[in-house]
Amino acid sequence: MPRKIAAGNWKMNGTSSDLVELDKLAAAHADPSVVMLICPPATLIERADRICAAAGIAVGGQDCHAAASGAHTGDTSAQMLWDAGAAYVILGHSERRADHGETDADVSAKIAAAQAVGLTAILCVGESLAQRDAGQALAVVGAQLRGSLPDGVAADRLIVAYEPVWAIGTGKVPTLEQIGEVHGFLRASLADLVAEGAADVPLLYGGSVKAANAADIFGVADVDGALVGGASLTAADFSPIVTALQNA
Ligand code: 13P
Repeated sequence: MPRKIAAGNWKMNGTSSDLVELDKLAAAHADPSVVMLICPPATLIERADRICAAAGIAVGGQDCHAAASGAHTGDTSAQMLWDAGAAYVILGHSERRADHGETDADVSAKIAAAQAVGLTAILCVGESLAQRDAGQALAVVGAQLRGSLPDGVAADRLIVAYEPVWAIGTGKVPTLEQIGEVHGFLRASLADLVAEGAADVPLLYGGSVKAANAADIFGVADVDGALVGGASLTAADFSPIVTALQNA
């Protein structure tokens, strides 16, 4: 897969009337050197994929269950996402960890389930503000990475997103030095944790990425793209971020 990835996480936003944003993205971008990925709510994956597939835009889910099927009311399996047209799935997002109590062990099982059906897993890690202030940022993301990668994880179907919890939806962004420090640490840690292909695992930064700061962030070593929340909801906001990545 190309290393440059511009991913949009729509979170719990979007109904059918918002699909027009995908038509606009499809019309605006046709650069195969950058993977453009949109992760809409599960209800829109199939319709989103119908629009995106022809334009070479990938579609992903925002979570999956670790089990293949069964009595899990309200949950979605990895196979169901794949069947609906998803090629990627975000796992371990801090909002899932906070809202649903997901542990590293839960995330590890989900990554294994996702990769088993062919999905590329986007593992999210990131420290809270209190943890950063206490000087624990690297220790926290290191522990999350170690705890969340299943045995035998496939590096070629893995992406890691560094999303400091305090930067999500706040307009606050770490300094470029802080981003570079964590990404360098993640790159080195992956080399210890993944048998083969660690150097090729894309590392995304996420947390208040906007058109105004994207180019600077993409200039940081070991930043291969972004996982974008709020600014991915409209083509007008997301397109300039994708363009900044193309030009990086
Ligand atoms: P924002 O871009 O809205 O800060 O969200 C980031 C995020 O959580 C992406 O997964």
